[in-house]
Amino acid sequence: MIENWPPRYAQNIQGYGGYSIGKLFKMLRDPEIISLAGGLPSPDMFLKTQIREVSKQRLEQDLETIFQYTAIQGEIELLEACIAFLRRDRIRVNMEEIFITSGGQHGLDILGRCFLDPGDALVLDRPTFAGAITAFQMQRPEFLGVDIENDGSDIDAMKKVILGRPKSRAPKFIYVVPDFQNPTGIAMSLEKRRALLDLSYETKIPVVEDSPYRDFRYYGTSIPSIYSLDQEREGGHVIGLYTFSKLFCPGIRVGFSIGPSDVIRTMMNIKEGNVLNTPKYNQDLCAAFLTRMDLDAHLRKCIAYYREKMDVFLGTMTSHFPSDWGVTWTRPEGGLFLWVTVPKHIDTKELFYEAVKYKVAFVPGEVFYGENPSNHHMRINFSYATKEQLAEAVKRLANCIESQIK
Ligand SMILES: Cc1ncc(COP(=O)(O)O)c(C=O)c1O
Repeated sequence: MIENWPPRYAQNIQGYGGYSIGKLFKMLRDPEIISLAGGLPSPDMFLKTQIREVSKQRLEQDLETIFQYTAIQGEIELLEACIAFLRRDRIRVNMEEIFITSGGQHGLDILGRCFLDPGDALVLDRPTFAGAITAFQMQRPEFLGVDIENDGSDIDAMKKVILGRPKSRAPKFIYVVPDFQNPTGIAMSLEKRRALLDLSYETKIPVVEDSPYRDFRYYGTSIPSIYSLDQEREGGHVIGLYTFSKLFCPGIRVGFSIGPSDVIRTMMNIKEGNVLNTPKYNQDLCAAFLTRMDLDAHLRKCIAYYREKMDVFLGTMTSHFPSDWGVTWTRPEGGLFLWVTVPKHIDTKELFYEAVKYKVAFVPGEVFYGENPSNHHMRINFSYATKEQLAEAVKRLANCIESQIK
């Protein structure tokens, strides 16, 4: 019997802990806990009747091909629907510049494998999406984190970081979530999107634009995607990662990636080696979502629904957190998250265990840092709990934090 497995694991996996948020969730089985921790869209927004109807039709009409191996790139109907979906947003891609992934996380994993060798650097915000850090971590890269600002990535600081290194150790890419970033909810200003592209053109470092929340804007006006701004110039500087997990539902695990044809071909080769094809049944449901379920009406419904929840959350925060506590939070214009900062002496990892006693949960901020984690922040999700639960959760959180302040 082989007993000591870890020394046999690949170097890249030594000490690799996977997605730490997932482990916290195990503590939240008590139904009395109101969890603001997950990044879950509300099942109230699942198009249940249409999904049932389309599922039935698909199984009746096409069972033989649905359960067969299918194309690595994805189903033509879905690829065409994704291209049309992007055209609404003034992004033009052809069939060589797109492929279907099994969700957004899959795109991140493939991207990391495609670009990163151990020790390679990448630039990212501090904080940024923990799932991206987890995916990239598998290649043991060097994370060059730059503190995010209220109007998005600090492009000047990114430039300093990049130009301060020898060309031979230039970062492989700059990773951003410009629209209602997970975890802060911050949107990058138009000026910064342009400045980021200037930086990319100057240094020839590609930008990775991860964009699951772009259509969930509740206030203000839409800002062009970095991909579309690049297309107004030479093009070819941006790789776009998309998922239907939040717009449609996460259980189908369908997303797509776009970019220069060479990159897409290479990413598809990696997909061939890891999942082969994304399940056709799921792709067919997603294609039906885009073409037959009145996408615009669905988006309007989601926007009204999530906006109301965000307003309840922010309103209750204002009335329960006196300013002299030194607690601050972002006020996003969209997305599913906001970012709470507590006084420096409170470690939110410890606060998490305390909060569970108050029957409320959040994600401690430290998991959202590629390096040198900051430990007095928390990510709040406002899309899943009901409005009543959200208001109650804020009160519980206020009681818990008050006990640490006084
Ligand atoms: C910024 C970002 N990228 C990618 C993903 C992963 O998407 P998926 O759930 O489709 O794997 C998420 C999910 O929360 C996300 O917030």
